[in-house]
Amino acid sequence: ETAYVKNKVKDISLAAWGRKEIELAEAEMPGLMALRKEYGPSKILKGARIAGCLHMTIQTAVLIETLIELGAEVTWSSCNIFSTQDHAAAAIADAGISVYAWKGMNEKEFDWCIEQTLFFGEDRKPLNMILDDGGDLTNMVFDKYPELIAGINGLSEETTTGVHRLYERMKAGTLPMPAINVNDSVTKSKFDNKYGCRESLVDAIRRATDVMMAGKVAVVCGYGDVGKGSADSLRNAGVRVIVTEIDPICALQAAMEGFEVKKLTTAIKEADIVVTATGNKNIVREQHFRALKDKAIVCNIGHFDNEIDMAWLNGAYGSTKNEIKPQVDKYTVDGKDIIILAEGRLVNLGCATGHPSFVMSNSFTNQTLAQIELWTNDDAYENKVYTLPKHLDEKVARLHLEKIGVELEVLDQDQAEYIGVTVEGPFKPEYYRY
Ligand code: NAI
Repeated sequence: ETAYVKNKVKDISLAAWGRKEIELAEAEMPGLMALRKEYGPSKILKGARIAGCLHMTIQTAVLIETLIELGAEVTWSSCNIFSTQDHAAAAIADAGISVYAWKGMNEKEFDWCIEQTLFFGEDRKPLNMILDDGGDLTNMVFDKYPELIAGINGLSEETTTGVHRLYERMKAGTLPMPAINVNDSVTKSKFDNKYGCRESLVDAIRRATDVMMAGKVAVVCGYGDVGKGSADSLRNAGVRVIVTEIDPICALQAAMEGFEVKKLTTAIKEADIVVTATGNKNIVREQHFRALKDKAIVCNIGHFDNEIDMAWLNGAYGSTKNEIKPQVDKYTVDGKDIIILAEGRLVNLGCATGHPSFVMSNSFTNQTLAQIELWTNDDAYENKVYTLPKHLDEKVARLHLEKIGVELEVLDQDQAEYIGVTVEGPFKPEYYRY
């Protein structure tokens, strides 16, 4: 156990600005606000001590304050060294919440921050719930503090990469508590990963470089949910997009959408911009760096920083790093310059402010429902990875319709019977893919 530090942020004087932006975000997060109305009065999360590790942004602040309004105690760290919005962290600290997050921390500080979230308040009560994004908090508890596992009801995980780690543990028989895979709610991965990146990728490249997008050639590595949104983001900005894939289904999807699909070694020569979105490692490496055009921009929108071989650029080649501004660096390889964004870490949170509030409301409404489920109903779950039931997925979507003026048709009884559903839903079988 570590000595008690109530919170650590960059600059508490940013709190008033953060608060104003939180209030604006609330208006764009109808799902979370509806859950406050539905479950706030009964304090359904009373007694829950939720340690969260998820990008400390304005949108996350609305999530944190929702969990608190539902009765939980909450501690927070960010799951990336560059993703904190310091005014959001300041507003949360100012509200008396234990948050340990600032933009531009080092890796040692990153671990320190997560560690602070494990024990609550002066009396150092341990966490009893985990809310994670990418699995770093989960791994710290499982590997470094296994004595805490018995007291924890369960965990909910936000992203593809974190979920992947959980299924591996389940397969190996080493998952010690129930886990809810939030990522694979339809209203998460088919919205945040896709439509979120469609907004935030080009935003990040623009804020970082101010480069003219239209007319450029970009390569998007990986055409999963994040790759689909990223490719659209670039296309909408007038960029000619080439996709790389290993999966024939996703490659065919990209081709059907009108994207060229090539091997990276083929496409790299004409790329002005390269974006990795695979959740895999060693995608852009020495041979690709050497083949790039002068002043090509290289960035990653996947969860971890190993998609681009930064170790080669920073070490093996002999570092040529030259900072242009924070999170924008110029390297020189074989006499040509390469612009690397956010040191190869996820660019939309490193160089911009992540996804817009409205799409994050979908993700975080799933997160909150997962926490409620694990807190109130944990006996129903074994030490396995679960997704939320379809009626809750549909509920998350339903809560976001009114805000954007959507009118929904209502089945009559006869129609419902004809397609084999009930009037209230769920409207699709489990195997339906959307
Ligand atoms: P996904 O599994 O849907 O897509 C990844 C795609 O990359 C797959 O289609 C796979 O076939 C392909 N791929 C794997 N290795 C490849 C290689 N060597 N070359 C080309 N393609 C390859 O995963 P999703 O949901 O798109 O997530 C991707 C990453 O982004 C994950 O790390 C996830 O955690 C992260 N993520 C980041 C977000 C952000 O805001 N920056 C939001 C959501 C997820």
